[in-house]
Amino acid sequence: MPALVLLGAQWGDEGKGKATDLLGGSVDYVVRYQGGNNAGHTVVVGDQKYALHLLPSGILSPGCTPVIGNGVVVDPSVLLSELSGLNERGVDTSKLLLSGNAHIITPYNVTVDKVTERFLGKRKIGTTGRGIGPTYSDKINRVGIRVQDLYDESILTQKVEAALDAKNQILTKLYNRRAIAAGQVVEELLGYAEQLKPYVTDTVLVINQALEDDKVVLFEGGQGTLLDIDHGTYPFVTSSNPTAGGACTGAGVGPTKISRVIGILKAYTTRVGAGPFPTELFDEDGEALRRIGGERGVTTGRDRRCGWFDAVIARYATRVNGLTDFFLTKLDVLTGWEQIPVCVAYEIDGKRVEELPYSQSDFHHAKPVYETLPGWSEDITKAKSFSDLPKNAQNYVKALEEMSGAPISAIGVGPGRDETIEINSFL
Ligand code: GDP
Ligand code: IMO
Ligand code: MG
Repeated sequence: MPALVLLGAQWGDEGKGKATDLLGGSVDYVVRYQGGNNAGHTVVVGDQKYALHLLPSGILSPGCTPVIGNGVVVDPSVLLSELSGLNERGVDTSKLLLSGNAHIITPYNVTVDKVTERFLGKRKIGTTGRGIGPTYSDKINRVGIRVQDLYDESILTQKVEAALDAKNQILTKLYNRRAIAAGQVVEELLGYAEQLKPYVTDTVLVINQALEDDKVVLFEGGQGTLLDIDHGTYPFVTSSNPTAGGACTGAGVGPTKISRVIGILKAYTTRVGAGPFPTELFDEDGEALRRIGGERGVTTGRDRRCGWFDAVIARYATRVNGLTDFFLTKLDVLTGWEQIPVCVAYEIDGKRVEELPYSQSDFHHAKPVYETLPGWSEDITKAKSFSDLPKNAQNYVKALEEMSGAPISAIGVGPGRDETIEINSFL
């Protein structure tokens, strides 16, 4: 019963989509366990490029069953348009399974997300504006709407009315917005019910039966470790648990079932939205990483903040996720730098600190301590094995591995499926 978790080891956009798609051909199920359409996963297959937001990246592998687990928040209009977009391109999406316990991102959740951000002003989080935070808060507040509620009009109406009672007070009295009519929301949501029905099922049962039948299941995280609501750079985080434990709660599998946890790790660092980022670059190196790496958000089109590799963060990701492997991505982007700085520790108030400080104030003051590694200039995009890499690229990878605390089992040298060096098999 091999069950693998694949998750982001930094602040998201590490290349999870590509890694999942690569493994998709050998796994039976790919399960999203948290987040929603705040995610943007780019998958390149041959000359075709796909941008996935809500659908698991396994959807592009014909033998694989994609599953949206109970821990995901689902915007039905986004899901349906993503499905029809793929169908138009000839992708069969009929195997998709959607948990009846997944929560629905309602139109009022999207409104509240945008209004809250606007009112936070300078202190805003820089959310994707997709209603993620407000939907998870409704879930925790026990006023959320679940996929299964779409199939009981009376329950749905009661729940939407209850949720809007308080929200309309806030929208009208605090934010000076118009009240949202419950009837309109109910009508819109009911309009999605029939189209979604064929996919809705008890995904927990399906996944656990699959594991009992020795099927291979891959749990695909959205976002990344440092965006985790518990373990990330709070409050500049998303509202779910992308870390490994999230796979258990967000898909309904016990921790004893997980056999491997793979951290996707970019060979440098990026971040979208606000919050601390010790190795962020504001110079031409940062600009070059952004340009060469194509670091522009798939979901919101925002430029990603770029910086050098941060080994303190990688070690932290190893620890909080119990990582068994890393998949190092975008090594090719670093080709051409004579010297490559790598952050090995922080300096905080004059003291050297080796591990991520637990105090938010300390982290905001952390200055990177760099070691500089020699770069390479040879094109590495055609490399098929570790020994094909120039010596300095090999040494860069080995140094990162040593600092990060888990073996690097694959290396991305380009966006395509086949632009990957496999070192240890994941299955
Ligand atoms: P995700 O959110 O973790 O799935 O990552 P994104 O798709 O948002 O961002 C990663 C970007 O890097 C995408 O455009 C990928 O096509 C691209 N990518 C992934 N792996 C590699 C790699 O090894 N080399 C290069 N050059 N691009 C890569
Ligand atoms: P993938 O799966 C990078 C960031 C947002 C913001 C914070 C909270 O493509 O790696 P939210 O809308 O989730 O409430 O925003 O989290 N964020 C991401 N950054 N990649 C993502 O997803 C992200 N999803 C959310 O920019 O800072
Ligand atoms: Mg992304």
